[in-house]
Amino acid sequence: MPDRPPPNPLVDGFGRVHRDLRISVTDRCNFRCDYCMPAEGMDWLPREELLTFEEITLVARVMVEQFGITSVRLTGGEPTVRARLPLLVASLAGLGVDLSLTTNGATLAGLADDLAAAGLLRINISLDSLRADRFQQLTRRDALAQVLAGVDASVAAGLSPVKVNMVPLRGVNDDELAEFVQFGRERGVEVRFIEFMPLDAQGEWRADRVVTRAEVLAAVGERFEFEPVGRDHEPAERFRLLDGSATFGVVPSVTAPFCGTCDRVRLTSDGMLRNCLFATDDHDLRPVLRGGGSDDDLSAAVAACVAAKREGHGIGAPTFVRPPRPMSRIGG
Ligand code: 5AD
Ligand code: SF4
Repeated sequence: MPDRPPPNPLVDGFGRVHRDLRISVTDRCNFRCDYCMPAEGMDWLPREELLTFEEITLVARVMVEQFGITSVRLTGGEPTVRARLPLLVASLAGLGVDLSLTTNGATLAGLADDLAAAGLLRINISLDSLRADRFQQLTRRDALAQVLAGVDASVAAGLSPVKVNMVPLRGVNDDELAEFVQFGRERGVEVRFIEFMPLDAQGEWRADRVVTRAEVLAAVGERFEFEPVGRDHEPAERFRLLDGSATFGVVPSVTAPFCGTCDRVRLTSDGMLRNCLFATDDHDLRPVLRGGGSDDDLSAAVAACVAAKREGHGIGAPTFVRPPRPMSRIGG
Protein backbone atom coordinates (compact mmCIF):
# COMPACT_ATOMS: atom_id res chain seq x y z
CA MET A 1 0.00 0.00 0.00
CA PRO A 2 1.37 3.47 -0.82
CA ASP A 3 2.22 5.65 2.17
CA ARG A 4 -0.60 8.03 2.93
CA PRO A 5 0.07 11.56 4.13
CA PRO A 6 -0.80 11.87 7.83
CA PRO A 7 -4.40 12.85 8.33
CA ASN A 8 -5.27 16.44 9.18
CA PRO A 9 -7.23 16.50 12.36
CA LEU A 10 -10.78 17.75 12.00
CA VAL A 11 -10.65 20.74 14.35
CA ASP A 12 -13.40 23.25 15.03
CA GLY A 13 -13.17 26.89 16.07
CA PHE A 14 -12.83 25.90 19.75
CA GLY A 15 -9.91 23.51 19.24
CA ARG A 16 -11.97 20.35 19.57
CA VAL A 17 -10.60 17.50 17.47
CA HIS A 18 -13.28 15.29 15.89
CA ARG A 19 -12.65 11.57 15.75
CA ASP A 20 -16.13 10.06 16.05
CA LEU A 21 -18.57 9.79 13.15
CA ARG A 22 -22.18 8.76 13.83
CA ILE A 23 -24.07 7.57 10.82
CA SER A 24 -27.85 7.30 10.74
CA VAL A 25 -28.81 4.68 8.16
CA THR A 26 -32.58 5.18 8.26
CA ASP A 27 -35.17 7.45 9.89
CA ARG A 28 -37.58 4.52 10.23
CA CYS A 29 -38.22 2.49 13.32
CA ASN A 30 -40.18 -0.58 14.35
CA PHE A 31 -40.98 1.05 17.75
CA ARG A 32 -42.83 4.27 18.50
CA CYS A 33 -41.27 5.40 21.74
CA ASP A 34 -43.44 7.98 23.37
CA TYR A 35 -40.64 10.54 23.72
CA CYS A 36 -39.42 10.04 20.18
CA MET A 37 -42.28 9.49 17.74
CA PRO A 38 -46.05 9.87 17.51
CA ALA A 39 -48.12 6.66 17.53
CA GLU A 40 -49.03 7.13 13.89
CA GLY A 41 -48.48 9.47 11.00
CA MET A 42 -44.71 9.64 10.67
CA ASP A 43 -43.64 10.83 7.23
CA TRP A 44 -40.66 8.69 6.25
CA LEU A 45 -37.98 9.90 3.93
CA PRO A 46 -38.45 8.59 0.41
CA ARG A 47 -35.99 5.82 -0.49
CA GLU A 48 -34.16 7.80 -3.12
CA GLU A 49 -33.25 10.41 -0.54
CA LEU A 50 -31.36 7.86 1.55
CA LEU A 51 -27.66 7.51 1.00
CA THR A 52 -26.72 4.17 -0.52
CA PHE A 53 -24.23 1.92 1.27
CA GLU A 54 -21.64 2.98 -1.32
CA GLU A 55 -22.24 6.66 -0.58
CA ILE A 56 -22.09 6.09 3.18
CA THR A 57 -18.86 4.15 2.86
CA LEU A 58 -17.37 6.85 0.65
CA VAL A 59 -18.07 9.56 3.24
CA ALA A 60 -16.65 7.38 6.01
CA ARG A 61 -13.56 6.46 3.98
CA VAL A 62 -12.76 10.07 3.14
CA MET A 63 -13.20 11.07 6.78
CA VAL A 64 -10.96 8.25 7.97
CA GLU A 65 -8.28 8.86 5.36
CA GLN A 66 -8.24 12.63 5.35
CA PHE A 67 -9.17 13.47 8.91
CA GLY A 68 -8.19 10.50 11.02
CA ILE A 69 -11.69 9.57 12.18
CA THR A 70 -11.20 6.53 14.41
CA SER A 71 -14.67 5.49 15.48
CA VAL A 72 -17.91 5.01 13.59
CA ARG A 73 -21.29 4.31 15.17
CA LEU A 74 -24.36 3.29 13.18
CA THR A 75 -27.71 4.65 14.39
CA GLY A 76 -31.24 5.35 13.16
CA GLY A 77 -34.16 5.66 13.56
CA GLU A 78 -33.62 2.00 14.12
CA PRO A 79 -30.59 0.91 12.08
CA THR A 80 -31.54 -2.76 11.94
CA VAL A 81 -34.67 -2.04 9.88
CA ARG A 82 -32.40 -1.06 6.99
CA ALA A 83 -32.19 -4.11 4.71
CA ARG A 84 -28.85 -5.92 4.48
CA LEU A 85 -27.25 -3.93 7.28
CA PRO A 86 -24.45 -6.53 7.73
CA LEU A 87 -23.19 -5.62 4.23
CA LEU A 88 -22.69 -2.02 5.32
CA VAL A 89 -21.04 -3.20 8.53
CA ALA A 90 -18.62 -5.31 6.53
CA SER A 91 -17.69 -2.46 4.23
CA LEU A 92 -17.14 -0.03 7.13
CA ALA A 93 -15.20 -2.65 9.09
CA GLY A 94 -12.77 -2.64 6.16
CA LEU A 95 -11.80 0.91 7.15
CA GLY A 96 -10.26 -0.36 10.38
CA VAL A 97 -12.33 1.84 12.70
CA ASP A 98 -13.84 1.10 16.09
CA LEU A 99 -17.25 0.15 14.76
CA SER A 100 -20.38 0.16 16.92
CA LEU A 101 -24.16 0.22 16.64
CA THR A 102 -26.99 1.76 18.66
CA THR A 103 -30.23 -0.21 18.39
CA ASN A 104 -33.52 -0.88 20.16
CA GLY A 105 -32.54 -4.55 20.14
CA ALA A 106 -35.85 -5.90 18.84
CA THR A 107 -34.34 -7.89 15.98
CA LEU A 108 -30.95 -8.71 17.49
CA ALA A 109 -31.79 -12.26 18.49
CA GLY A 110 -31.62 -13.15 14.80
CA LEU A 111 -29.04 -10.58 13.74
CA ALA A 112 -26.31 -10.26 16.37
CA ASP A 113 -24.25 -13.16 14.99
CA ASP A 114 -24.34 -11.76 11.44
CA LEU A 115 -23.37 -8.29 12.64
CA ALA A 116 -20.48 -9.64 14.69
CA ALA A 117 -19.32 -11.82 11.80
CA ALA A 118 -19.42 -8.76 9.51
CA GLY A 119 -17.04 -6.92 11.83
CA LEU A 120 -19.22 -5.07 14.33
CA LEU A 121 -17.28 -4.72 17.60
CA ARG A 122 -19.59 -3.13 20.15
CA ILE A 123 -23.27 -2.49 20.66
CA ASN A 124 -25.57 -0.18 22.65
CA ILE A 125 -29.11 -1.38 23.20
CA SER A 126 -31.84 1.06 24.25
CA LEU A 127 -34.14 -0.24 26.96
CA ASP A 128 -36.22 2.01 29.19
CA SER A 129 -38.19 -0.49 31.27
CA LEU A 130 -37.82 -4.07 32.44
CA ARG A 131 -41.56 -4.42 33.06
CA ALA A 132 -43.51 -5.76 30.11
CA ASP A 133 -46.58 -3.55 30.55
CA ARG A 134 -44.54 -0.41 31.02
CA PHE A 135 -42.23 -1.32 28.16
CA GLN A 136 -45.29 -1.58 25.95
CA GLN A 137 -46.61 1.78 27.08
CA LEU A 138 -43.26 3.42 26.44
CA THR A 139 -42.51 1.92 23.04
CA ARG A 140 -46.09 1.14 21.92
CA ARG A 141 -44.84 -2.37 21.12
CA ASP A 142 -45.14 -5.59 23.11
CA ALA A 143 -41.51 -6.51 22.58
CA LEU A 144 -39.68 -6.69 25.92
CA ALA A 145 -38.97 -10.41 25.59
CA GLN A 146 -37.52 -9.87 22.11
CA VAL A 147 -35.23 -7.10 23.34
CA LEU A 148 -34.03 -9.19 26.28
CA ALA A 149 -33.28 -12.03 23.88
CA GLY A 150 -31.39 -9.50 21.77
CA VAL A 151 -29.27 -8.46 24.76
CA ASP A 152 -28.34 -12.07 25.43
CA ALA A 153 -27.68 -12.76 21.75
CA SER A 154 -25.30 -9.79 21.61
CA VAL A 155 -23.32 -11.06 24.57
CA ALA A 156 -23.27 -14.56 23.09
CA ALA A 157 -22.09 -13.21 19.72
CA GLY A 158 -19.03 -11.77 21.44
CA LEU A 159 -19.91 -8.11 20.96
CA SER A 160 -18.03 -6.29 23.69
CA PRO A 161 -18.92 -4.28 25.53
CA VAL A 162 -22.68 -4.65 25.33
CA LYS A 163 -24.20 -1.52 26.86
CA VAL A 164 -27.82 -0.90 27.72
CA ASN A 165 -29.00 2.72 27.44
CA MET A 166 -31.80 3.70 29.77
CA VAL A 167 -33.48 7.11 29.72
CA PRO A 168 -35.15 7.69 33.11
CA LEU A 169 -38.28 9.83 33.01
CA ARG A 170 -39.77 11.30 36.13
CA GLY A 171 -42.84 9.45 37.32
CA VAL A 172 -42.60 6.95 34.46
CA ASN A 173 -39.68 4.54 34.99
CA ASP A 174 -37.56 6.25 37.63
CA ASP A 175 -38.44 3.57 40.16
CA GLU A 176 -36.42 1.01 38.14
CA LEU A 177 -32.92 2.47 38.43
CA ALA A 178 -31.47 0.01 40.94
CA GLU A 179 -33.25 -2.83 39.15
CA PHE A 180 -31.42 -1.86 35.97
CA VAL A 181 -28.08 -2.02 37.77
CA GLN A 182 -29.05 -5.45 39.06
CA PHE A 183 -30.01 -6.42 35.52
CA GLY A 184 -26.59 -5.32 34.26
CA ARG A 185 -24.97 -7.44 36.89
CA GLU A 186 -26.95 -10.53 35.98
CA ARG A 187 -26.59 -10.24 32.23
CA GLY A 188 -22.99 -9.07 32.12
CA VAL A 189 -23.81 -5.75 30.44
CA GLU A 190 -23.06 -2.15 31.35
CA VAL A 191 -26.15 -0.05 31.97
CA ARG A 192 -25.92 3.66 31.19
CA PHE A 193 -28.49 6.14 32.40
CA ILE A 194 -28.92 9.02 29.95
CA GLU A 195 -30.49 12.31 31.01
CA PHE A 196 -33.57 13.07 28.95
CA MET A 197 -32.77 15.71 26.31
CA PRO A 198 -35.09 18.13 24.50
CA LEU A 199 -34.95 16.48 21.09
CA ASP A 200 -38.44 15.49 20.12
CA ALA A 201 -40.34 17.68 17.76
CA GLN A 202 -43.60 17.34 19.66
CA GLY A 203 -42.94 18.90 22.99
CA GLU A 204 -42.77 15.83 25.27
CA TRP A 205 -39.67 17.27 26.93
CA ARG A 206 -39.95 19.38 30.04
CA ALA A 207 -37.14 20.21 32.43
CA ASP A 208 -39.06 18.63 35.31
CA ARG A 209 -39.21 15.27 33.51
CA VAL A 210 -35.41 15.01 33.49
CA VAL A 211 -34.11 12.62 36.15
CA THR A 212 -30.70 14.08 36.88
CA ARG A 213 -27.35 12.40 37.36
CA ALA A 214 -27.53 13.22 41.09
CA GLU A 215 -30.96 11.61 41.40
CA VAL A 216 -29.81 8.50 39.54
CA LEU A 217 -26.81 8.09 41.85
CA ALA A 218 -28.99 8.57 44.93
CA ALA A 219 -31.48 5.94 43.77
CA VAL A 220 -28.80 3.38 42.87
CA GLY A 221 -27.06 4.17 46.16
CA GLU A 222 -30.09 3.01 48.13
CA ARG A 223 -29.34 -0.52 47.03
CA PHE A 224 -25.67 -0.67 46.01
CA GLU A 225 -22.35 0.72 47.15
CA PHE A 226 -20.21 2.01 44.31
CA GLU A 227 -17.20 4.18 43.49
CA PRO A 228 -16.27 6.25 40.44
CA VAL A 229 -14.00 4.63 37.86
CA GLY A 230 -13.03 7.84 36.12
CA ARG A 231 -14.13 9.05 32.73
CA ASP A 232 -12.90 7.38 29.58
CA HIS A 233 -13.19 9.21 26.28
CA GLU A 234 -16.94 8.55 26.37
CA PRO A 235 -19.18 11.21 27.87
CA ALA A 236 -20.47 8.69 30.42
CA GLU A 237 -19.28 8.95 33.99
CA ARG A 238 -18.66 5.39 35.09
CA PHE A 239 -19.05 3.68 38.45
CA ARG A 240 -18.08 0.28 39.80
CA LEU A 241 -20.03 -1.65 42.40
CA LEU A 242 -17.76 -2.21 45.38
CA ASP A 243 -18.27 -5.97 45.16
CA GLY A 244 -16.84 -5.79 41.63
CA SER A 245 -19.91 -7.42 40.09
CA ALA A 246 -20.80 -4.66 37.62
CA THR A 247 -20.12 -1.18 36.33
CA PHE A 248 -22.70 1.35 35.26
CA GLY A 249 -22.58 4.79 33.70
CA VAL A 250 -24.43 8.08 33.78
CA VAL A 251 -24.52 10.45 30.81
CA PRO A 252 -25.32 13.88 32.28
CA SER A 253 -26.15 15.49 28.93
CA VAL A 254 -28.38 18.12 30.50
CA THR A 255 -26.99 18.88 33.97
CA ALA A 256 -23.27 18.55 33.11
CA PRO A 257 -22.96 18.82 29.33
CA PHE A 258 -19.80 17.45 27.75
CA CYS A 259 -19.81 19.89 24.84
CA GLY A 260 -16.31 21.11 25.78
CA THR A 261 -14.77 17.77 24.83
CA CYS A 262 -17.22 16.75 22.12
CA ASP A 263 -15.50 14.87 19.29
CA ARG A 264 -18.62 13.89 17.35
CA VAL A 265 -19.97 14.68 13.96
CA ARG A 266 -23.13 13.14 12.52
CA LEU A 267 -24.27 12.04 9.08
CA THR A 268 -28.04 11.71 8.62
CA SER A 269 -29.60 9.03 6.46
CA ASP A 270 -30.39 11.64 3.81
CA GLY A 271 -26.81 12.83 3.58
CA MET A 272 -26.76 15.85 5.87
CA LEU A 273 -23.69 16.36 7.98
CA ARG A 274 -24.50 17.85 11.40
CA ASN A 275 -21.92 19.21 13.80
CA CYS A 276 -24.16 18.76 16.87
CA LEU A 277 -27.27 16.83 17.91
CA PHE A 278 -28.78 20.24 18.61
CA ALA A 279 -27.51 21.99 15.49
CA THR A 280 -30.14 24.16 13.88
CA ASP A 281 -28.67 23.72 10.42
CA ASP A 282 -27.53 20.84 8.20
CA HIS A 283 -24.66 20.67 5.71
CA ASP A 284 -25.99 18.78 2.71
CA LEU A 285 -23.36 16.43 1.26
CA ARG A 286 -25.58 15.11 -1.51
CA PRO A 287 -24.72 17.81 -4.05
CA VAL A 288 -21.07 16.70 -3.75
CA LEU A 289 -21.86 12.97 -3.57
CA ARG A 290 -24.35 12.99 -6.43
CA GLY A 291 -22.92 15.82 -8.48
CA GLY A 292 -19.62 14.18 -9.36
CA GLY A 293 -17.58 15.90 -6.62
CA SER A 294 -14.09 14.65 -5.78
CA ASP A 295 -12.80 13.36 -2.44
CA ASP A 296 -11.31 16.81 -1.90
CA ASP A 297 -14.69 18.47 -2.51
CA LEU A 298 -16.17 16.13 0.07
CA SER A 299 -13.50 16.83 2.64
CA ALA A 300 -13.89 20.58 2.07
CA ALA A 301 -17.62 20.24 2.81
CA VAL A 302 -16.88 18.21 5.95
CA ALA A 303 -14.29 20.70 7.19
CA ALA A 304 -16.71 23.61 6.63
CA CYS A 305 -19.39 21.87 8.67
CA VAL A 306 -17.09 21.21 11.61
CA ALA A 307 -15.61 24.71 11.45
CA ALA A 308 -19.12 26.11 11.98
CA LYS A 309 -19.73 24.13 15.19
CA ARG A 310 -21.07 26.13 18.13
CA GLU A 311 -19.47 26.02 21.55
CA GLY A 312 -22.31 24.13 23.21
CA HIS A 313 -25.96 23.14 23.05
CA GLY A 314 -27.10 25.69 25.62
CA ILE A 315 -30.02 23.63 26.96
CA GLY A 316 -31.55 25.76 29.69
CA ALA A 317 -30.31 29.05 28.24
CA PRO A 318 -33.05 31.52 27.26
CA THR A 319 -31.78 31.43 23.68
CA PHE A 320 -31.98 27.61 23.36
CA VAL A 321 -34.02 26.36 20.42
CA ARG A 322 -34.76 22.72 19.74
CA PRO A 323 -33.35 21.30 16.56
CA PRO A 324 -35.89 21.31 13.74
CA ARG A 325 -35.24 17.61 13.09
CA PRO A 326 -36.47 14.96 15.51
CA MET A 327 -33.89 12.56 16.99
CA SER A 328 -35.07 9.80 14.64
CA ARG A 329 -33.91 11.92 11.70
CA ILE A 330 -30.58 12.77 13.30
CA GLY A 331 -29.36 9.59 14.95
CA GLY A 332 -28.33 9.11 18.56
N1 5AD B 1 -33.04 12.16 25.43
C1 5AD B 1 -32.11 11.23 25.78
N2 5AD B 1 -31.92 10.10 25.08
C2 5AD B 1 -32.72 9.88 24.02
N3 5AD B 1 -32.79 8.86 23.18
C3 5AD B 1 -33.75 9.10 22.27
N4 5AD B 1 -34.33 10.31 22.51
C4 5AD B 1 -33.71 10.80 23.61
C5 5AD B 1 -33.85 11.97 24.36
N5 5AD B 1 -34.75 12.90 24.05
C6 5AD B 1 -31.93 7.71 23.31
C7 5AD B 1 -32.60 6.41 23.03
C8 5AD B 1 -31.42 5.58 22.63
C9 5AD B 1 -30.47 6.53 21.98
C10 5AD B 1 -30.49 6.43 20.49
O1 5AD B 1 -30.88 7.82 22.38
O2 5AD B 1 -33.23 5.87 24.13
O3 5AD B 1 -30.79 4.98 23.73
FE1 SF4 C 1 -37.34 3.93 17.63
FE2 SF4 C 1 -35.27 4.67 19.18
FE3 SF4 C 1 -37.20 6.45 18.58
FE4 SF4 C 1 -37.76 4.38 20.19
S1 SF4 C 1 -36.27 6.06 20.60
S2 SF4 C 1 -39.04 5.10 18.45
S3 SF4 C 1 -36.53 2.76 19.35
S4 SF4 C 1 -35.79 5.52 17.13
